Amino acid sequence: MNKLDTALVGSALKEAGFSLTGSEKEADVVLINTCSVREHAEQRVLSHLGHLKHIKKTRPDMVVGVIGCMAQRLGDKLLEHKAVNIVCGPAQIPQITELITEALQQKKKTLAVTENIRKTAEEQNETLEEFESAYGIEDEQIPGQAFVRVMRGCDNFCAYCIVPYVRGPAVCRPPEAIIEQIKKLPGQGVKQVTLLGQTVNSYKFKSGERTYCLADLLDMASGIEGIEWVKFVTSYPSEEFFDEILQVMADSPKVCNYLHLPAQSGSDKILRAMNRHYSSRWYLELLAGARAVVPDIAIAGDFIVGFPGESEDDFQATVDLVKKARYKNAFIFKYSPRPGTRLWRAGGELQDDVAPEVKQKRNIELLAVQEKVSDELNRAFLGKEVKILVEGLSKKPHLNAADKADNPQLVGRTATDYIVVFNGPPSLAGQFAKATIKRTSPLTLFGKLT
Ligand code: 5AD
Ligand code: SF4
Repeated sequence: MNKLDTALVGSALKEAGFSLTGSEKEADVVLINTCSVREHAEQRVLSHLGHLKHIKKTRPDMVVGVIGCMAQRLGDKLLEHKAVNIVCGPAQIPQITELITEALQQKKKTLAVTENIRKTAEEQNETLEEFESAYGIEDEQIPGQAFVRVMRGCDNFCAYCIVPYVRGPAVCRPPEAIIEQIKKLPGQGVKQVTLLGQTVNSYKFKSGERTYCLADLLDMASGIEGIEWVKFVTSYPSEEFFDEILQVMADSPKVCNYLHLPAQSGSDKILRAMNRHYSSRWYLELLAGARAVVPDIAIAGDFIVGFPGESEDDFQATVDLVKKARYKNAFIFKYSPRPGTRLWRAGGELQDDVAPEVKQKRNIELLAVQEKVSDELNRAFLGKEVKILVEGLSKKPHLNAADKADNPQLVGRTATDYIVVFNGPPSLAGQFAKATIKRTSPLTLFGKLT
């Protein structure tokens, strides 16, 4: 979601005549796009702002803007920071060029956030929709790929989560606007499109007589010539449209057999406290149902460890779920109390009762359990040929790194989101390639181009 906002802002600024630089030292304007999901992410922004304050001592004209969820959450408190000139929430990014121009000319501090985020005005949605449809969405970091938001915001109110309060209510974008945007992508070299939403599987849009669901979008997107792979993230474990989505996955070779379906916990007590509307047993049945329709489906999960009240038994229930779910990979987070969430308002800061060492220990234990599963799943690829969409040079060369300059180590992903590392010409970035898997680790498949 944030990467997409960064790309949209980047396109808008380029169109307004700004040019992008990778170096803070050269920049007249520095924008920081922020996430509020965990406290750690916000702390990193604050320390970066400290660094910018220092730079501004010698370059007082430099304009610093904070955009995104942290801007919406902290508003004027953030504007008080010495380094900050602009605070701009996710719903105000259409105004960003205006805000920057003002800041450059008038040297004043400006705040643009939504007053009552759970009651966003129709008008605001229209402005966001226009902005979103107008700008390019190809990912400049990863050639050949693009992200398209299909819904904004969230109405789920999981007890720990800040998203409904910084991104506002769930609003689905019109299918025509989404499809129009996707149609433009192949002309820019895009081969894979990822549809984005906080609970993307519950996408629903009524247009005339017809109600469109995510399966319809997947079907329409995969009908577009030049789009070869269609992915979607993130799903919420619910029955709504689940069968339709799996069916289109099974039927369409372009809809990737990959599902990101966070469980968050394996303990029913904790799931209830989290305000997640399912039990661990029901969740596992949902996975079994998905595998029955799409046998090679790769499933990824998210978990929070150390949620308030999580006992050792609760945690072991999560371990048990991870063993049974057989995820391709799982993202594991330590619970971080967020001001304004349901739990916080119910005294959650005080209730953050799992000690940091215990959170750490559970995090490590759960990672180890998942690593074993990932390792087994990865080994099954040995000797097999896979199709990869190549992303570019591998950031962490592991194998034959010293190979010739025209044959460096590249990285890409399969349709089911497995990471593959192999040697090949850099010109393959953004293209499809095939490789035979020669070696595996829990996180990576190592291949040889075929
Ligand atoms: N603390 C820790 N992890 C969180 N997540 C969301 N809110 C919190 C929080 N307060 C995790 C969830 C979600 C992922 C994006 O971040 O696992 O799926
Ligand atoms: Fe947060 Fe829950 Fe919405 Fe996901 S579904 S964004 S965890 S409130």
